[in-house]
Amino acid sequence: MPSANQIEAWATARAASTVIRVEDVHKYYELGEARVHALRGVSLEIQRGEFLAIMGASGSGKSTFMNILGCLDRPSSGQYLLEGIDVSKHDKRTLALIRNQKLGFVFQGFNLLARTTALENTELPTLYTKIDKAERQKRAAEALAMVGLADRAQHFPSQMSGGQQQRVAVARALVNHPSILLADEPTGNLDSRTSVEIMEILQNLNDKGLTIVLVTHEHDIAQFAKRVLVFRDGKIRKDEPVLHRPKAAEVLKTLPTLED
Ligand SMILES: Nc1ncnc2c1ncn2[C@@H]1O[C@H](COP(=O)(O)OP(=O)(O)OP(=O)(O)O)[C@@H](O)[C@H]1O
Ligand SMILES: [Mg+2]
Repeated sequence: MPSANQIEAWATARAASTVIRVEDVHKYYELGEARVHALRGVSLEIQRGEFLAIMGASGSGKSTFMNILGCLDRPSSGQYLLEGIDVSKHDKRTLALIRNQKLGFVFQGFNLLARTTALENTELPTLYTKIDKAERQKRAAEALAMVGLADRAQHFPSQMSGGQQQRVAVARALVNHPSILLADEPTGNLDSRTSVEIMEILQNLNDKGLTIVLVTHEHDIAQFAKRVLVFRDGKIRKDEPVLHRPKAAEVLKTLPTLED
């Protein structure tokens, strides 16, 4: 039997590796007279190094939940701790700082600036930090290299494929070295091969220790994560580990390339 001391040590270690802790979160949207109860008591813990996929029907609350995790919105009630910080206790300005330092975002639409190169797009989140210009460019170049786009640094979005644009968006999300990457349907606008390429990048980043939370409608995409949550009517209906997790790099070998 473990001693009381051991149990306490485990609890401490576990708390230290908890990146996200959500307790009984509710979210209401007021729309004139009507009130939408978008989240109805969500509780969840996410440990460092996890790779979580969130699935569920349209309107089940996935984006609402991601917006709360991303400090873009606040719960109507309940608690959200991000690396032990109680997010609900901070004002908008502090939230923006937390967001910029701890979180990286990737969306379905790549949201790149059109007249701006891949390198400059990647550099954007560093403009709100105290990092000097040389270091900013170095970090942006490193982030682009991480997603395999070192040779596209001077390209504009219109000169890149959808998959490449999404990789720039991933690089931009990584440039401030976040604790968590939040991705809301990052493969929603991509064909199946390109989607798996993005998942390969996410798996590689997760192997290096990055915590990832991903929303997807596609079961095949969710299987690349380590744990799958299913939302229904604003609640978590299922929370299960992925048992036979494919490696995206292996799956890619079985998919036809454009040249085939
Ligand atoms: N800004 C808002 N104002 C009012 N109601 C909203 C707002 N955003 C979302 N809702 C409502 O909250 C509920 C949950 O929406 P949410 O966007 O979280 O769903 P979702 O699971 O992300 O759906 P999808 O798969 O279509 O993206 C829906 O009923 C939606 O209509
Ligand atoms: Mg959504």
